Amino acid sequence: MVKVVIGEKEKYLAEVGEKLNTASGIIKVKKGFVKSHKGKKFLVTEPSIKDLLDKLKRGAQVILPKDMAIIVAYTGLRPWWKVLDTGTGSGFSAIFLANLLPLGKVYSYEKDEKAYRTARENIQKAELKNIVLRKQDVKQLKEKNFDLAVIDLEEVEKVLPIAFKALKPGGWLAVYSPTVDELLKVQKILKKLKIVESSAVEVIVREWQYEKTLRPKTKGIMHTGFISFARKFE
Ligand SMILES: C[S@@+](CC[C@H](N)C(=O)[O-])C[C@H]1O[C@@H](n2cnc3c(N)ncnc32)[C@H](O)[C@@H]1O
Repeated sequence: MVKVVIGEKEKYLAEVGEKLNTASGIIKVKKGFVKSHKGKKFLVTEPSIKDLLDKLKRGAQVILPKDMAIIVAYTGLRPWWKVLDTGTGSGFSAIFLANLLPLGKVYSYEKDEKAYRTARENIQKAELKNIVLRKQDVKQLKEKNFDLAVIDLEEVEKVLPIAFKALKPGGWLAVYSPTVDELLKVQKILKKLKIVESSAVEVIVREWQYEKTLRPKTKGIMHTGFISFARKFE
């Protein structure tokens, strides 16, 4: 199983027994505390889902944990939910959700071969067994009765009505839009559907520096995307 290797200022994913080249020297990976050949101390332990996502391969733009967290908060995700995730991309949204669904499942659809392969590799590393990854256009969606559909792709005008149809009454849509233009497009489609509890949000996380002087950091992630929420009425 993959482990996280944590140094003072660096972090890696590696397998037990592996010889790992770090910025602070070479280490032989084994559980517990290990020293590099330069004498720097590392902790080798079980990775959190955040450790994995920090280090997994990224192809297309991914949904970051801060944005996934608000999807969980707004929809009130429960451990047994059946979730649709599309497009899979690098599998970040699917992995984040599947980790919170010990009794549930994520059905993730990706039409692009390269993205599908990246996602498959990432899901294997995350060792999650509750993701059904389909290399298929989501317009050929097979399943229904979803509790939640997370949509993150360009052709939202075609996919959103299909995902909506596949939701249970009371099920949630969470649609990720990187730009205001995309957000407006989503809102226009939502207007035609029988929905309740709709909202659109942006998550801004502002980190602070607290050494020497106290003030917001000048560097960091500024904008990621907007998320539209809506609940199927009928
Ligand atoms: C921005 S990425 C998704 C990122 C993903 N949510 C994550 O967190 O890693 C969009 C993906 O949707 C896929 N896609 C676009 N249209 C699709 C469709 N109709 N069916 C399935 N996948 C589609 C693209 O190939 C691309 O990989």
